[in-house]
Amino acid sequence: MKVVAFNGSARKDGNTAILLKRVLKALEAEGIETELIQLAGEQIRGCTACRVCFETKNQRCVINDDKVNEYIQKMVEADGIILGSPTYFGMMSPEMKALIDRAGFVTRATPDTLKYKVGAAVAVARRAGVMTTFDAINHFFLINQMIVPGSSYWNIGIGNKRGEVEKDEEGMKTMDDLGKNMAWLIKKLKV
Ligand SMILES: Cc1cc2nc3c(=O)[nH]c(=O)nc-3n(C[C@H](O)[C@H](O)[C@H](O)COP(=O)(O)O)c2cc1C
Repeated sequence: MKVVAFNGSARKDGNTAILLKRVLKALEAEGIETELIQLAGEQIRGCTACRVCFETKNQRCVINDDKVNEYIQKMVEADGIILGSPTYFGMMSPEMKALIDRAGFVTRATPDTLKYKVGAAVAVARRAGVMTTFDAINHFFLINQMIVPGSSYWNIGIGNKRGEVEKDEEGMKTMDDLGKNMAWLIKKLKV
């Protein structure tokens, strides 16, 4: 059993990464293998709307000069997918949006690619817009027929400077509970 997490922040090892690592730690404590992929520094362009993926239906994007196909493959192989993003101007980061648009079109072109996998969104902000980020990421899971577990609060953290989110005790506990709930659900679905 494996969960892959993507950090859509342009800042490596920042607050989003801290939240994601907390979820992954809880998953590992339940015996689930994890991997964290940080998009910071990667050049990921958005979908060009060429629709080639709807003709080839091969779970690949025709754009081959970045890592999106590798990321789609990681999603295909995983039992659970976590997408984490900071809030930029009231919405997810452009890196995360590009990944969602590209991976989302490819997986929609090949129906059932992500069906019954477990998905969770994690969002962080200094002050406002965090729920919009959280909600928008969840659209990716829901339209892919994935199963979305809850936690003891919505999966958000509040912080600005790198590391500040650790002071958000409720946010950190929400990540612990999310990891436990994801592990519980993945194990049930594997039976
Ligand atoms: C371009 C940009 C836009 C931002 N817009 C918002 C915003 O709309 N609302 C907010 O509360 N914080 C905003 N922030 C603050 C980040 O969400 C916050 O610093 C967050 O902790 C960054 O996460 P990271 O450390 O994972 O990069 C913005 C930061 C940047 C760089």
